[in-house]
Amino acid sequence: MTGLVVAMDGPSGSGKSSASRGVARALGLRYLDTGAMYRAITWWMLERGVDLTDPEAIAARALAPVLSMGTDPDAPSVAVDGADAALAIRTSEVTAAVSAVSAVPEVRRRLVAEQREIIGLGGIVVEGRDIGTVVTPGAPVKVYLTASADARALRRTAELTGTTVETQKAAMARRDTLDSTRKTDPLAMAADAVELDTTALNLEEVIAEVLRVIKEKA
Ligand code: C5P
Repeated sequence: MTGLVVAMDGPSGSGKSSASRGVARALGLRYLDTGAMYRAITWWMLERGVDLTDPEAIAARALAPVLSMGTDPDAPSVAVDGADAALAIRTSEVTAAVSAVSAVPEVRRRLVAEQREIIGLGGIVVEGRDIGTVVTPGAPVKVYLTASADARALRRTAELTGTTVETQKAAMARRDTLDSTRKTDPLAMAADAVELDTTALNLEEVIAEVLRVIKEKA
């Protein structure tokens, strides 16, 4: 399994993170959360008051923050300029702002290069929006996770406090539209990906299904 790369793409709330970590754990592989990288850059820019309505301002600082990603599926980590940012990148402010930052080509170019470097010779499960289409189009296993809008909003609401399903559903719809309509590397299913609808599945069932796909393809 050393050389194996499993690309896991899909919209927010489709169950990518839990499933990707579970699959990596089951097979003794590393795990990379590429969304955490876009969130980390977004958090750094918010902290510094960068105008996120101005793509040029974002592009001008795209290379400044230094990221360090930990790829242990039991304890994935993200550090920005040497400081742990795992909690800071999960706030609603970062979630609301991340799509504006991830649409900027200079940000994507930088992070795609870093993601390829981390993937290296493989042995890793990578989750994101453009992993099977752009980051590692040669990956032997590509899974595209989906779920109904209601199921995705319910899952996200259960993870958070002080929000409602309706609020989450609207926020996710907005983010998915931005992510799938941007010009550079939009959220899309690779032609050779296996689509997996997780609406009626629990986490164990999703992991089992992905492991079955890996057995068949890898
Ligand atoms: O997966 P997560 O919800 O943490 O991703 C946060 C955001 O990062 C997405 O909404 C998207 O804008 C961006 N992203 C991306 N490409 C990836 C992973 C995430 O553009 N490969």
